[in-house]
Amino acid sequence: MAEVSLKGVKKSFGRVEIIKGVDIHINDGEFVVFVGPSGCGKSTLLRMIAGLEDITEGTLEIGGRVVNQLQPKQRGVAMVFQSYAIFPHMTVRENIAFGLTIARASKQEKQQKVAEAARILQMEHLLDRRPSQLSGGQRQRVAIGRAITRKPAVFLFDEPLSNLDAALRMDMRMEIGRLRRQLGTTMIYVTHDQVEAMTLADRIVVLKDGQVMQIGAPMELYHEPANRFVAGFLGAPSMNFLNVDVLDLDGEAAMVGNQSLEPIRVATRGRPFRKGGKAILGVRPQYLRAVQSGKGLLHGIVAHAERLGSETVVDLSLRDNSELIAAFDEDKVFEPGDALELTFDTALAHLFPDEGELQTH
Ligand SMILES: Nc1ncnc2c1ncn2[C@@H]1O[C@H](COP(=O)(O)OP(=O)(O)O)[C@@H](O)[C@H]1O
Ligand SMILES: [Mg+2]
Repeated sequence: MAEVSLKGVKKSFGRVEIIKGVDIHINDGEFVVFVGPSGCGKSTLLRMIAGLEDITEGTLEIGGRVVNQLQPKQRGVAMVFQSYAIFPHMTVRENIAFGLTIARASKQEKQQKVAEAARILQMEHLLDRRPSQLSGGQRQRVAIGRAITRKPAVFLFDEPLSNLDAALRMDMRMEIGRLRRQLGTTMIYVTHDQVEAMTLADRIVVLKDGQVMQIGAPMELYHEPANRFVAGFLGAPSMNFLNVDVLDLDGEAAMVGNQSLEPIRVATRGRPFRKGGKAILGVRPQYLRAVQSGKGLLHGIVAHAERLGSETVVDLSLRDNSELIAAFDEDKVFEPGDALELTFDTALAHLFPDEGELQTH
C-alpha cells in the first residue's frame, strides 16, 4: 500500500510562504501529475514528499503512516530529477547499481536488480557504455533505472523530460506511460508541460502560487475547468477569453454579448454574475467554425494565419480590438484583412466572473 496524503501542507522559506495549505490524496498505484507555471511550487512540494525539504506545517502520510520526520531513505520513495544525476566515469551498469552499491547490496543482488531494470527499460545492450556514449533520452533512462532498483513504494519525477528535444520527449513520454503500466507503482510526476500532464495522468493537480486550483481527471479539467486559470492552462492554443457584458440572468444561464459578439445564452455553472455587470467568456479555439456572412456570432478580421498542414491557426482582431484565436482542423488559406464570421456551440463555452483573486493569470 502506498497511498500518499498531504493534509494542510505548508512551506515557508524564511518569512515567505511558498506552499499555502495543500490537501491532496493520492491512491495506491495512481499516476498523479502536478502541473503549473514555473515558480508555483511544484518542485518544493515534491521535495517535501521526498524528504529533501522539511514541512513547515501540516502532515504528510505515505502508506498510511506520518512521515514528516522520516529521512528520505526511510520513506520508500525514489526520485528522478530533470538533470540526469548520473556519473560520467561510471558505466550504465555501475550507474544503475549505484544506490545498491551505497546500500552494500551483494554482487548477486546487484546483478539481478540491474538486469531487471535494464530489461524493463529495454537497455540491456547499453549496460557497458558510459554516459557520454548515450543520447539524452538514454541517460534519463539510466536515472530511472537507478530508481527502479530501489523498488520504491512511490516514484517521484521532477520534470524528467524537460532537457530533451521535442521528438525525444514524446518517445520518453510514451516510455514512462509504459513503465507505469508495467510497474503499477504510485507515481507523482511534476511538469510545466500540459501535454505531459494530459497524456500521462490518472489525475492532474493544477497548482498556482502554492495553491491547488483544481484536481481531477485530465478530461474533467479540460471540459469542466473550475476557474479561468485552469481553463487557460490546459489546451493548446489556449482558450480565448472575451470581456463580455451580462445582459440578462435567469436561474442557470446568463445572456452575454459585446460589440463583437451577438447575444448568447451561456450556463453559469453556479458561478456568481450580476445583470449589467461584466463577465469573461471562454471559448476554445478548436470550437470556432467559420460561417457565411450574416450567420456568425463573432465578427473578426484576419491578422495572421499559420498553416500547419493538419490544422490552420488564425489570429483575428475583433471589433473591440480584442484578439481571438481560431483553430480549424483542416488546411485553409486566409489572408490578412479577410473578414471572417465565426460561430460555436454555446454549450461548450464557459463563463467566468470578471473579478476575484483566482481570475487573473
Ligand atoms: N531553498 C529555497 N529558498 C528560498 N526560496 C525558494 C527555495 N526553493 C524554492 N524557492 C522559491 O519557491 C518558489 C517555488 O519554487 P519551485 O518549487 O522550485 O517552483 P516550480 O518547481 O513550480 O518551478 C519559487 O518562488 C522559488 O524561488
Ligand atoms: Mg521545479
